[in-house]
Amino acid sequence: MVKVLVTGGAGFIGSNFVRYALDRHRDWHVTTLDKLTYAGRLENLEGVLDDPRHRFVRGDIADRDLAAPLVVDADLVVHFAAETHVDRSILNAGDFITTDVFGTFVLLEAARQAPRLKRFIQISTDEVYGNVADGASRETDELRPRNPYSASKAGADRLAYSYWATYQVPVVVTRASNNYGPYQFPEKVIPLFITNAIEGLSLPLYGDGLNVRDWLHVRDHCRALDLLIERGQSGEVYNIGGGNEVRNLDLTRRILRLLGRPEHLIRPVPDRPGHDRRYCLDTTKLTSIGWRPETDFADGLAETVKWYEARTDWWRPIKQQDPAFREYYDLQYGRRLGTS
Ligand code: NAD
Ligand code: TYD
Repeated sequence: MVKVLVTGGAGFIGSNFVRYALDRHRDWHVTTLDKLTYAGRLENLEGVLDDPRHRFVRGDIADRDLAAPLVVDADLVVHFAAETHVDRSILNAGDFITTDVFGTFVLLEAARQAPRLKRFIQISTDEVYGNVADGASRETDELRPRNPYSASKAGADRLAYSYWATYQVPVVVTRASNNYGPYQFPEKVIPLFITNAIEGLSLPLYGDGLNVRDWLHVRDHCRALDLLIERGQSGEVYNIGGGNEVRNLDLTRRILRLLGRPEHLIRPVPDRPGHDRRYCLDTTKLTSIGWRPETDFADGLAETVKWYEARTDWWRPIKQQDPAFREYYDLQYGRRLGTS
């Protein structure tokens, strides 16, 4: 039996990973530790909540009394838990420091005492490199985060590395590009724009819409993590990129085309402050150990649009009934859209 601790497993990528891992590894027993913030939802774990090889624990990674024994008992830790939305970090950075930096410190301290721990996967992000004017970021490049989210992730990324260099905690750091797929909270651009288009609402496109992101299907991300648990080297960093560089305006048009909705729903709005123009990853290091993305972007996007069309039961309660979402939406977009 392999005991796996997944933090943040009720979020978007974490829940996809828990399902993937239980399906793929019959000898894995997974404990999901999640605080269930606004972004964490038990519904995301549908299909595995009753699985005898899965246990859900509600709690905060920064709560040492709760989190440390779970880490100490684990063979593998996959640490997804974080505050993750750049726009929210610009509005209020406090929770990003508490969870992404201090919470990671609590887990790493416990990992020093974990007798059987074989791997601690620190889920970092391509955003730690900051804006990439040209070329592609390599793992050895300087980190130049430019917003509170990416700065807090960069702090956690290097803190995790330091626990390998100093205490030999078997840390592997991963830096993935923008993920898309099912169960992504409808504040991020792809699910926000799909669901707004379905509802006939404006799609608030920041600035000139020419910022570029590299899109990675969440399933391909899970496959990469699975490989790195086996074959990653402790103390090393691995980029995980989808190889799909798309300008936001083109992405928005593709979503509208897939839904058969008109382009006049696109609403250019004032830009995000400090908006990184482009991210792009060099993935040579990961591909050299046998991974490549399998999901074609056109297919993956069409599949994702279909999922949100079919799963209004999943997102409508968030967007239409949760007062916290409405409050966030008004704060973030009210002035931009002239609706507040
Ligand atoms: P998400 O916001 O959907 O999920 C985050 C999860 O963490 C939620 O379930 C939330 O309840 C939980 N959480 C937050 N604070 C917690 C705390 N203090 N204690 C316990 N649980 C807590 O995020 P996601 O998109 O699934 O991202 C997962 C990880 O992947 C994050 O570390 C993020 O930085 C990283 N990442 C995301 C992307 C992306 O495109 N989404 C790309 C690269 C890296
Ligand atoms: P987002 O999904 O927030 O991911 P990240 O900031 O982590 O890359 O945004 C992806 C891109 O879409 C980014 O360039 C900002 C842009 N965007 C908009 O134009 N409008 C929006 O309402 C949102 C949420 C994002």
